[in-house]
Amino acid sequence: MIEQTESFVRQELAEDATGHDWYHVDRVRRNALYITHEEQSGDPFIIEMAALLHDIADEKLNETVEKGEQKLDSFLQTLSINEQTKQHIKEIIGTISFKGGHGSELTSAEAKIVQDADRLDAIGAIGIARAFAYGGKKGQPIYNPELQVRQEMSLEEYRKGKSTSIHHFYEKLLKLKDLLNTETARTMAESRQKMMERFLDQFFQEWNGIR
Ligand code: ADP
Ligand code: NI
Repeated sequence: MIEQTESFVRQELAEDATGHDWYHVDRVRRNALYITHEEQSGDPFIIEMAALLHDIADEKLNETVEKGEQKLDSFLQTLSINEQTKQHIKEIIGTISFKGGHGSELTSAEAKIVQDADRLDAIGAIGIARAFAYGGKKGQPIYNPELQVRQEMSLEEYRKGKSTSIHHFYEKLLKLKDLLNTETARTMAESRQKMMERFLDQFFQEWNGIR
């Protein structure tokens, strides 16, 4: 079943250039399995399935939220797993996004672990690469010192280019380490956080022409 899911996801995300490609999914899966092992918590099968499918219904990769959900639903229907497991996988995927997870309590150990794994892949060296890949693909500038850092911004506003990839670090990426659910992920986040801080320091030094 894992293999079947893997090949479906590979196919679906093959063309992606927004940082939601197959290798993102694979890293999230591996980090999630590592966390579940270290924490000795969560069902590894549910975690692996949810990690593999977590971006399939993403708003950013589908024309509409409904179309994304339909795609996920119809794939889940092809699997021979019980209804309860399907619901659990869907619930994890529905609740882990930054938006969905913001403020709303995650209901299961599995959801917490997949969310941590997804967040870890948005920070550190990989996170830096993904932010500029996403920004470039969306036509967003690298940086614009005239724009304010805003705390809350809708997806629509992002799409209209009211932010920059450098702003995205202050709006979201630097905050992720304090939103992690597990101790294992917090430990993994440390060197990633330092990497982003060092990158931003150097970025502004170069931006301002300091040698
Ligand atoms: P996830 O898929 O991890 O739930 P998102 O879909 O919000 O998270 O973001 C996916 C990737 O795209 C992340 O690495 C994130 O930093 C990046 N990203 C999302 N929005 C922006 C933005 N406005 N500017 C730059 N990068 C962004
Ligand atoms: Ni993701």
